Amino acid sequence: MITLSEVRKVYGDVVALDGVDLEIDKGTIHGIVGPSGAGKSTLVRCLTGLDQPTTGTIEVAGQNLSALGEGALRQARRRIGMVFQHVNLLDARTAAENIAYPMRIAGVPAAERRARVQELLDLVGLGNRGGAYPSQLSGGQKQRIGIARALATDPDVLLCDEPTSALDAATTRQILGLIRDIRDRIGVTVVIITHEMEVVRQACDAVSLLDHGRVVESGRLAAVVADPATRLSHALVPLPPVPDTDKAVLDIFFTSTPGEPTGSRVFDVVARLGGDITAGTFETLGDTQVGRVALSAPHHDVERLARGLREAGLHVEGRVARLPQAREVTDHG
Ligand SMILES: Nc1ncnc2c1ncn2[C@@H]1O[C@H](COP(=O)(O)OP(=O)(O)OP(=O)(O)O)[C@@H](O)[C@H]1O
Ligand SMILES: [Mg+2]
Repeated sequence: MITLSEVRKVYGDVVALDGVDLEIDKGTIHGIVGPSGAGKSTLVRCLTGLDQPTTGTIEVAGQNLSALGEGALRQARRRIGMVFQHVNLLDARTAAENIAYPMRIAGVPAAERRARVQELLDLVGLGNRGGAYPSQLSGGQKQRIGIARALATDPDVLLCDEPTSALDAATTRQILGLIRDIRDRIGVTVVIITHEMEVVRQACDAVSLLDHGRVVESGRLAAVVADPATRLSHALVPLPPVPDTDKAVLDIFFTSTPGEPTGSRVFDVVARLGGDITAGTFETLGDTQVGRVALSAPHHDVERLARGLREAGLHVEGRVARLPQAREVTDHG
């Protein structure tokens, strides 16, 4: 649905995007994360056609955005719905009027607009709040109206820039649930720019890590997380802090498929070989269960332990320095 090929964007001597290659499949929810200055906002501006790459191409729904004339670009931009952190509804207009607004601009006849607005209000779970003004709506409800407005022109792509960063955890869960539900129902392709790993865990099918203007890691969520070497895996399933110890610490990483009793396998192995589990975490992401466990043991014993654990099919790393944590992937300074 979206294909970026060698996209570079240069501002003077600042290279904001340094050869981005990215493929986003139709109907997937694709998260884009990365540290401050990585190029996320630049990527969004290029995807919406608000800005042009210096070189490289961006195709959305089979159309090369940079090859389009002004009129065609305006049409193409209607195929991309935008959802922002701050919803920016028109305060003097009702929720229904806000949703209708992009359709008025696009010249949709009034009767058709009314029917479509009701459909969209129902879709976002606010079927009876069309007459409410923004000041009468909660933050989560406003974001629902923002999503309905973004869908008004029936886009192929819903581009969400930090859609839940202004919301509390419970409302975030609801909005992400809604986005998944909408994708399931209408098959829209969703791109979510976020600095919150929780958003990726809860909502995304695939994820890309942008750093210094390049995509440095990318893939289906389960595949990325199942690769213990990736920064995204550490960020998405971080090991809780390990208590200070004079002993050696081994980091154990494991994945399993449905039906396989992941945790007990590890506990069985550790019980057999020895060592103390001092920190651990389990996460289920889609079909994949992932765990990280820190095992402390006397220094003279770690070689034997590591060998035994590896023979049992676990990924084991000796702890020298601290692992990268979530904030090192998304740190905003
Ligand atoms: N209009 C511009 N003129 C000059 N430099 C720019 C411009 N827009 C972005 N940059 C630079 O391009 C780089 C990428 O910026 P961008 O805003 O895309 O990062 P970001 O990933 O969105 O960061 P953040 O998480 O802080 O929002 C930065 O070095 C930034 O200073
Ligand atoms: Mg930004």
